[in-house]
Amino acid sequence: MTIPPFYITTPIYYVNDVPHLGHAYTTIAADALARFHRMHGDDTWFLTGTDEHGQKIDQAAAKRGVSPKQLADEVVVRFQETWKRLDVANDDFIRTTDQRHKDVVTEMWKRIEGAGDIYEGSYAGWYCIPCEVFYPETQLEDGKGDEKCCPIHKSPVTWVEEPSYFFAMSKYQERLLQHIADHPDFIQPENYRNEVVAFVKSGLRDLSVSRTTFKWGIPVPGHPEHVIYVWIDALTNYISALGLPGSERYERFWPATCHLIGKDILRFHAVYWPCMLMSAGLPLPKTIFAHGWWTVRGEKISKSLPATRVDPVQLADDVGADALRYFLLREVPLGNDGDFSYEALLGRFNAELANDLGNLINRCLTLTGKSADGKVPEPQAQPAGDAHEQLAACARKVAVEARAAYESYAPSRALESIWALVREANTYVNTTQPWKLAKQPDAAAELAYVLRAALEAIAWVARMVWPVMPEKATAILAQVGAGDAAPTWPEPDSWSRDLPAGAAVARPDPLFPRIDADGAKTLLAKWIPADATTDAEAKPQAEAKPAGPTITFDEFKKLELRVAQVLSAEPVPKTKKLLRLQVDVGEEQPRQVVAGIAEAYEPAALVGKKVILVANLAPATIRGVESRGMILAAGDKQILGLSGLDNDVPAGTIVR
Ligand code: MSP
Repeated sequence: MTIPPFYITTPIYYVNDVPHLGHAYTTIAADALARFHRMHGDDTWFLTGTDEHGQKIDQAAAKRGVSPKQLADEVVVRFQETWKRLDVANDDFIRTTDQRHKDVVTEMWKRIEGAGDIYEGSYAGWYCIPCEVFYPETQLEDGKGDEKCCPIHKSPVTWVEEPSYFFAMSKYQERLLQHIADHPDFIQPENYRNEVVAFVKSGLRDLSVSRTTFKWGIPVPGHPEHVIYVWIDALTNYISALGLPGSERYERFWPATCHLIGKDILRFHAVYWPCMLMSAGLPLPKTIFAHGWWTVRGEKISKSLPATRVDPVQLADDVGADALRYFLLREVPLGNDGDFSYEALLGRFNAELANDLGNLINRCLTLTGKSADGKVPEPQAQPAGDAHEQLAACARKVAVEARAAYESYAPSRALESIWALVREANTYVNTTQPWKLAKQPDAAAELAYVLRAALEAIAWVARMVWPVMPEKATAILAQVGAGDAAPTWPEPDSWSRDLPAGAAVARPDPLFPRIDADGAKTLLAKWIPADATTDAEAKPQAEAKPAGPTITFDEFKKLELRVAQVLSAEPVPKTKKLLRLQVDVGEEQPRQVVAGIAEAYEPAALVGKKVILVANLAPATIRGVESRGMILAAGDKQILGLSGLDNDVPAGTIVR
């Protein structure tokens, strides 16, 4: 049996900047995908690295008064340390100043030249140094006076005239179009494929591939007065890290399974690189996956805006690397753009990690401690009753769905699906009420089944989130008695028979301690620079409504307000605004309440929250669903926030 290879790469990052949120995003996503394939036994190789040549680096070094190599040596450590801190397990790290890289770039040039695709000419045009790209005049923007500016950086471009070697890229136009048409997975997501096809169809021009105006690069073989254009140099890293064709690693891993990149560098990867490979007679990568672009609190990440300089290491120190990894991969689908806010990070931390998952684990550990001597119960036949079947069916479905999602580069969909199991497991514990079963002598087998099923659900969740949260998942598995063996993907057939019977489960020890209002305030003050208000935040204040007629205290006393904890939440079908909630108000049975908050809250974010309920409101049927009470929320037409409590008050407590 041959083991399928999985070779995934990130872009190599320029060393004129230190790692920020954008770099962390690509690298974390690639790491999660690599881990997913590794846990499936695929022959996995994950490469990242740094791009150290070119005028941009040369100039940044000159500004600092150091040599470009000194600058690179300094900054590369920042990247390597950041990846370590974020639990990124790359198999190799390539630097374009490595000798192994220079050798392969030289060989690549010779192959392209040998194919008759390099010719000498001269180049004149508007050049943007930060982009390392020539722009046609039509794309430039007007600056001060006669200045022409880069459409991306808005800084002045320079008119450059120099002798240059050219790569006959236009020759490959039709072959490239054919390849894209024959391989629907080649450029993903689909919208980016369409963009590339339109660009190629508009006519490929030959590419200027050498420079004489600076020296910081790899010399053109036989013409040392030219250095090789940075993009040929940089793109070749994906092969130079493996070795030349014929070497063991090249034969094992090339062509790459996936070049994961940001959408900013799609054209280089989906057009220049394939044409170069065709010319060099080498196979093309299977997939180029372009992910979207993060803004920070509404602004583009930029050196000149301190508010956008989100430091991934700082966040990892404060909320944990796993929570950051979870947030970035859950918040937006991989191909989409996203806006980062610290508040959203804290929101997901509390709602999904501390409440949904953390509470589930702690409840189950406590119950097992109290009612099963702290040990995983023996497997039992599944008792009669919908709840047991519902959990089993959900677990099996999620194991299939989440796997398919990771396989198709959709970690956010995988996590969404896994959280359906987390919620189902919470509902299961609420419905089966093991604390009551523990008091019924004839319910021992059912109690054992329930505790075991709940622990298994947690173990399955941990195994499926391991690619995204390796450290916490490993800790969860140890807590529920699964041991410390490398996690494997759950197999639907083994549901409820996975955990070793008799294994000790841990005492509750929260892995995601809730960040309370004061904690959040402290963190936000630390993360957000004092002068960091962005335009996007200058929102108008809600207008205070004029006071209405007053009521007497006796009238107020008629209201019965109670603390209610949300146990489950789901949309009311065929409505946009309504959610059906089951809430615990300290009564025998949970209550069902319909709330018009679906546009402001994801159902998942509500589970575990404590809100204030008008408990004596006459029952009503809303869109066919019975509602017994109303939860209080701020906002009139638009919901701005839910009523909450600043202390952990038990459900059912009267509010005055
Ligand atoms: N050196 C080139 C890449 C050569 S690859 C053969 C380069 N380097 S870079 O340092 O500018 O990194 C660009 C990459 O960083 C993007 O493609 C993306 O992976 C990541 N990101 C940088 N900023 C980003 C955002 N704001 N949002 C998401 N990812 C971003 O280009």
